[in-house]
Amino acid sequence: MADQHAQSGEDKRPTEIPAIRWEEPPEGPVLVLLDQTRLPVEEVELVCTDAPALVEAIRTLAVRGAPLLGIAGAYGVALAAARGFDVEDAARAIEGARPTAVNLSVGVRRAEAAHRAALGTTGDPTAAATAALAAARALHQEDAAASARMAAHGLALLDELLPAGGHRILTHCNSGSLVSGGEGTAFAVALAAHRQGRLRRLWVDETRPLLQGARLTAYEAARHGMAYTLLTDNAAGSLFASGEVDAVLVGADRIAADGSVANKVGSYPLAVLARYHHVPFIVVAPVTTVDPGTPDGASIEVEQRPGFEVTEITAPQVQVTGAGGGIPVAPLGTQAYNPAFDVTPPELVTAIVTEEGAVSPVTAEALVELCARSRQV
Ligand code: MRU
Repeated sequence: MADQHAQSGEDKRPTEIPAIRWEEPPEGPVLVLLDQTRLPVEEVELVCTDAPALVEAIRTLAVRGAPLLGIAGAYGVALAAARGFDVEDAARAIEGARPTAVNLSVGVRRAEAAHRAALGTTGDPTAAATAALAAARALHQEDAAASARMAAHGLALLDELLPAGGHRILTHCNSGSLVSGGEGTAFAVALAAHRQGRLRRLWVDETRPLLQGARLTAYEAARHGMAYTLLTDNAAGSLFASGEVDAVLVGADRIAADGSVANKVGSYPLAVLARYHHVPFIVVAPVTTVDPGTPDGASIEVEQRPGFEVTEITAPQVQVTGAGGGIPVAPLGTQAYNPAFDVTPPELVTAIVTEEGAVSPVTAEALVELCARSRQV
């Protein structure tokens, strides 16, 4: 079950409410999410007391973005354990909520393994629930640390690839603190550049149809005082043509063993544009987004979303009139093609930046080496 209440305030953090937090009120443990479907209009908490509520929050994108899905998944398992629900059932339901971001199942399985191991050793469900929660907390903290390291590696790479002076960076979707235990992935690199006075402009793709760029990235950029400009996804081509983009920075939902990158739909066309215009296309993601079990781009399951997200404007602030709950922008009954992600082949990716450093050129061998390095740490 979930319930909501709004909150407001004055300080200048990206949001007043952290994207995710665990709380233990007297009524029992809860997972508190910042409901991202309501941004930028209001900061509203979504309080989950069980796995079905979390599954619904994941499906509706109240909680979203690959690293945060991993953290949410791990806490979801801990929640089921702490509240005495069937942990395996909860784990399968949560990891099945969305198919593309591999981090979701990585997070779920990590907490589930900790739970299983503790149960095996102690036979005590309370100790097992504590172990699941400790695993979720560890993942949360590791993600924050990884985020800071990605930002440092990414900024170093920009300095290597681009002439000195202010960088003009184009980004797509949302990859800041709303998707992370820290400051995010691609956005964190732009933020690091901003803090060092080296961000001339952040170009923010609006990211149709659910507007993660307009609603979330612009929100984060504004609250950090970054120089940013919002554009429609279709305007990116003319921006490249007029020489206004120095680099593209995006996150990733799954990186296949061959280096193919699944990210928010619209990333692949940017990679094609970037190649044509000799601009680096850089993917920033934690090592947990690399999935050695998915051999290539064709093997990545791309989530298909409901058509009403395209045929209607469903942002929370608009007047509700359509069958899907939004304003219709197409005739009733129009079919829509609405993949949530697309896949960019490795040859179009200049570099993948992780907390363990950058991989460039992007090859299967380099990714194997990266994953091995990460396991040794
Ligand atoms: O559908 P969403 O909003 O979950 O999609 C998110 C993205 O595509 C992000 O770019 C990706 O998860 C990387 S976030 C670091």
